[in-house]
Amino acid sequence: MAGRGILLIVGGGIAAYKSLELVRLARKASIAVVPVLTRAGAEFVTPLSLSALAEDPIHSELFDLTAEAEMGHIELSRAADLVVVAPATADLMAKSANGLADDLASTLLLATDKPVLMAPAMNVRMWLHPATQRNLATLKADGTRFVGPDEGAMACGEFGPGRMAEPPAIFAAIEAALAGAGPLTGRHALVTSGPTHEPIDPVRYIANRSSGRQGSAIASALARRGARVTFVTGPAEAPRPNGVEVVEVETALEMRDAVLGALPADVAIFAAAVADWHVLAPSGSKVKKSPDGAAPSFEFGENPDILKTVSNLSAGRPGLVVGFAAETDDVLANATAKRLRKGCDWLVANDVAPASGIMGGTENAVTLITEAGAETWPRMSKEATAEALVDRIAEALA
Ligand code: C5P
Repeated sequence: MAGRGILLIVGGGIAAYKSLELVRLARKASIAVVPVLTRAGAEFVTPLSLSALAEDPIHSELFDLTAEAEMGHIELSRAADLVVVAPATADLMAKSANGLADDLASTLLLATDKPVLMAPAMNVRMWLHPATQRNLATLKADGTRFVGPDEGAMACGEFGPGRMAEPPAIFAAIEAALAGAGPLTGRHALVTSGPTHEPIDPVRYIANRSSGRQGSAIASALARRGARVTFVTGPAEAPRPNGVEVVEVETALEMRDAVLGALPADVAIFAAAVADWHVLAPSGSKVKKSPDGAAPSFEFGENPDILKTVSNLSAGRPGLVVGFAAETDDVLANATAKRLRKGCDWLVANDVAPASGIMGGTENAVTLITEAGAETWPRMSKEATAEALVDRIAEALA
């Protein structure tokens, strides 16, 4: 197989239809797909649709003399860079965990010497059954990677974990697995992102205009280079990145706890726009207008500076700590002083003066400040800024 390629085993489950979209995403990215359809899988998607999208003939039988003549199952199991099982049924997981090989899919899983990525999909009770959880632990110990399952409403009418991860999430996991042994493979990256919401009462909060786009783009770029990413996000409007562990928080205090709980990390990037203050003792009920028209007053407490806390840890400080500085004037001077004050290694300064359209927008124009000095990058999309920053992180951690 020239270029990058996966062997895709489609098991029998209602989620099999999502695998067609996964094939489309892979082909669009020029990843070759050799499709294997189990007998149960063929009850849910047709061999014709799968092979047409994969642009490759279907493999489905263990003792198929034509296929054996063309490509034996041992060869088939090793032709790809990665074996993907989506949907991975309880049965396929059980077979693989126990080394059974009684059909083509299980035989390929036993014969392969390539990494295996499974996207489980099953009824919530089957997923939570001790046998499946045992098999999951065994497979993980054997080095099998997993993406999902998600939690939500299931085709069987129940609710809980067991839904197959969405195709973009599986695709992100495939990209990360195919990234191979880059400088970020096996590294743990922590990214904070988005605004924080500091409650005033049950219906009101103090917030800021951060969209979370820059943080999401950085987390995605890190995951694509093979890093394990913990993404701690406030209530941001940007979609959550694929292929990362998402920790949702609301307040600065929750963000601090989530960040400290996610350490140790090799690199930590603080892209969140954290509120500096929180309302002390927010009201338990909605604050009412006063009959005499007097405006309410609130007492504020200072929020912990998470970047500064992590930068100054004596034990467990990440090897590389990157802060952001959103400034509206004297950007370079303020940001240079801020790097020293916070104790971080790098500081990414951006001009968020309203005329720049950066905060809440899709583009960024940053200056990277390191011990060596400052370099200003051209204005570009937040995705391109993320790629450039992650290039530098990969170099620094190499
Ligand atoms: O001091 P300032 O808010 O400008 O610093 C910005 C940098 O510090 C960002 O990287 C931001 O994520 C981080 N920060 C933090 N905790 C705070 C305030 C800011 O981690 N309470």
